[in-house]
Amino acid sequence: MSARRRQAAALTLLLLVGASPAAVAQAPAQAASTPAGNELQEGEQRFRPVWSARGIVAAQEPLAAAAGAGILRAGGNAVDAAVATAFALAVTLPQAGNLGGGGFLLLWLPGPSPAAARGCLPGTRPGGPGGDSPERRLGGGTAVAVNFRETAPQAATPTMFLRADGTVDRARATRSLLSTGVPGSVAGLTLAQRCYGRLPLARVMAPALRLAEAGFPVSRELSDSLTAAAPLLAADPASRQLFLPPPPPGRLLRQPALAATLRRIAARGERGFYEGPVADALVARMARGGGLIRPRDLRAYRARLVAPLQGRFRGHPVLGMPPPGGGLTLLQILGILEPFALAATGLNAAATLHPMAEAMNLAYRDRNALLGDPDQVAIPVDRLLSPAYLGSLRRRIDGRRHTSPQQVEAAAAAEGTNTTHLSVADRQGGLVALTTTLNFAYGNGITVPGMGFLLNNEMDDFSARPGSANAFGLRQGQANAIAPGRRPLSSMAPTLVFRPDGRPWIATGSPGGSRIITTVLQVLLNRLVHGLNLAGAVAAPRMHSQLWPDRIDLEEGFSPDSRRLLEAMGHTLRTAPAMGAANSVEVLEAGGGSLGASDPRRAEAPAVPE
Ligand code: DON
Repeated sequence: MSARRRQAAALTLLLLVGASPAAVAQAPAQAASTPAGNELQEGEQRFRPVWSARGIVAAQEPLAAAAGAGILRAGGNAVDAAVATAFALAVTLPQAGNLGGGGFLLLWLPGPSPAAARGCLPGTRPGGPGGDSPERRLGGGTAVAVNFRETAPQAATPTMFLRADGTVDRARATRSLLSTGVPGSVAGLTLAQRCYGRLPLARVMAPALRLAEAGFPVSRELSDSLTAAAPLLAADPASRQLFLPPPPPGRLLRQPALAATLRRIAARGERGFYEGPVADALVARMARGGGLIRPRDLRAYRARLVAPLQGRFRGHPVLGMPPPGGGLTLLQILGILEPFALAATGLNAAATLHPMAEAMNLAYRDRNALLGDPDQVAIPVDRLLSPAYLGSLRRRIDGRRHTSPQQVEAAAAAEGTNTTHLSVADRQGGLVALTTTLNFAYGNGITVPGMGFLLNNEMDDFSARPGSANAFGLRQGQANAIAPGRRPLSSMAPTLVFRPDGRPWIATGSPGGSRIITTVLQVLLNRLVHGLNLAGAVAAPRMHSQLWPDRIDLEEGFSPDSRRLLEAMGHTLRTAPAMGAANSVEVLEAGGGSLGASDPRRAEAPAVPE
């Protein structure tokens, strides 16, 4: 796709509330701060974020982003809009948007929190360190994270994906009903909306319901994606009936069964999913196909409000998703890199990329060895984020030579683009970063009969056998072994960044499997250190390293010179397919509106009617 088409396509994914595209061109882009590192002002840079006076939604698919923008227009806040977009993505982006998967959401809203009055914080005292509330006060507002990661069913066992000879049965771990964790999305979205939204749930879900019922014109991207997934989907009769043969671009895709499921949720909240006909159909499918999810697993599922991890980078408070999310690893990498003069060595230079790769490897070593579900595994979070410990990791970086994984000693890599991330800013500066997934594209490819939604294969994010690689090449340890009720470790890393005085600034995140954390890292470095505007920060070429395999993945766009210098330092390089889709938003100073940038890597032209 040409750069021009990419930019045009990116624009289509950003829905402006109260500002026409013409207003975008007239936006006072200089109103945003430009950190040191780039002498060009925002408006002079190659890429241009989209501006809106009244809130913005950045998402991977335009109809779903429009759903969220419509909810902002109707008086919803960032949470309402994020939930509306996520439910709409379950209709329009079936490869990643979902009801049968899970995810994480991070939010910041101005003013006092409505959650206690709504009964969402039973038995907790108001937030702040020392309190036992999950809420954190920051910049005159409230921040909280929602953990709606899938859980292992009660009947799960540590060895459930092993063959008799001890090897991992990859098909069982990724394509069978055993690969499905108890879905969390419906519980998570409805919890966030009930505790922090402004509008009734049914209003927020109305656009998704309409898209499922009336149908929408299939985009070329969806048509191609369904074609690629046809062998997987063909193996399941209900998926075959829903999606095959793949509709050509422009054909209307109606999903009446999914519409009925959405209607049940809109009417009954999460009970419309975890109890009653939807739950019965899911459990019956499990029983028929050797799956483990039983009614008690569904009834016991709880999405949870949790305290975000808080770090600081170059004076900016950064909120990340605690384990089992990817925020701890992200904050570790930021902490290791903090004193490096990355602006001086420069974007995409070998002298910048080398410490980045080494810092990534060190943090992935800890991730693989130590991280898991904090409800079941003790994780030394404070120590892993302490300046002393991060300093000790930093000192292990040799400025001239790559340190081999054997020396760093630990774990992992692979590809995947089938999670989805959305970011929302509302008119009051409220921010939401939401990442959700089925794990693989279309999860395990199995649809719950009559209910119109696909099941995740998130159980593969556990270590099926400690030390052996999962689909993303991650060689994780005992801390992430399968256990009943446990949530698998995730790389998903919705992230919020604040101005030094605590006011909200950026919401970002990405899909990309194990590359999520490093994608988010680079969006932040590009914006905070290298002075790119939001669109440039999202579009810039990305690299990735995760210790094992021992190599740096580089997208197109790195110079032969940088590559040669990295190789001379002992790095092995691979030119890698595009990584991530970091749809991001930013709040401008003093009521100046907000900016959005959807990632040109995954943007497609809008669907065309037949
Ligand atoms: O939670 C995780 O880390 C993975 N299940 C995410 C999968 C993913 O991002 C796939 N595609 N991009």
